[in-house]
Amino acid sequence: MTSLALQALPLFGKVLDGAIAVVQTLTGKKAATIDHSWHPPTPTDRRSPCPMLNSLANHGYLPRDGKDVSLADLVTGFKESINLAPEATFLVTVKALRASSTGNFLTLHLDDLNKPNIIEHDGSLTRADFHSGDNHTFQPALFASFLAHLGGHPTISIPVAASARLARLAEARAANPEFSMSAENTRFSFIETASYLQVFGKGLDGDARADWLRVFFEQERLPFDEGFVRADKAMTVAGLFEVQRKVEEATKAVEGTKKTA
Ligand code: HEM
Repeated sequence: MTSLALQALPLFGKVLDGAIAVVQTLTGKKAATIDHSWHPPTPTDRRSPCPMLNSLANHGYLPRDGKDVSLADLVTGFKESINLAPEATFLVTVKALRASSTGNFLTLHLDDLNKPNIIEHDGSLTRADFHSGDNHTFQPALFASFLAHLGGHPTISIPVAASARLARLAEARAANPEFSMSAENTRFSFIETASYLQVFGKGLDGDARADWLRVFFEQERLPFDEGFVRADKAMTVAGLFEVQRKVEEATKAVEGTKKTA
């Protein structure tokens, strides 16, 4: 993305946000629910391979049943819960909507996102690969391995997150004869690491709280009870790309160390 496009994105986000507010006022439709207490999904609720989408649905920031979730639901839900800038949600959702099975190009069911190679990819931190037959369910054993790679630190720095991601990729590659990651899959995998570091850490500097990460991955719950608060400043695309760049640099450093060892 060019720097000019990056600079124009926040303006686009404001227009998008305004348009969504107008549509919601005119149609009387408000995203999800006002009650944001956490409830686990019922057996008929639909969930995705993304721990954040699932957490927002479990808190009612997105429709709790995970069905017919609209672009407007996502933009509003992400803004209200973790203060993700509208244009950031928009960019990911435009891609995600390619997996939609709802018959409406502006909505998706959360489990539509299980479709491989749209956003879903091999080498996830806590999900098995498509080859295994289940590419979307949280896997405690994979998470245990990921946690071990994180090394028991109370906060997760960017280099530690980069090396845990690399270690999980190596494990997935070894376990899956059909392992594959396109350049686009790899980019998303970096963005996923950058996004959890930013939401649960210190802005652009990483240091995500490990106890919050456990709550997030294991329960698909936002760790409000443990002290997490919605950031005052919106998390922007430029900020996410900056953390992504830092994770990529840290990854190169880890790979370089391994080659010279
Ligand atoms: C700041 C907001 C977000 C955060 C913190 C976040 C976090 C994450 C994380 C940590 C993963 C990796 C899970 C794993 O490897 O086990 C993931 C995966 C995923 N996310 Fe999100 N996410 C966010 C927003 C979104 C949005 C807006 C969408 C789509 C509308 C989305 C769709 C996905 C999908 C489809 C995957 C599965 C990728 C895979 O195969 O591992 N995410 N997300």
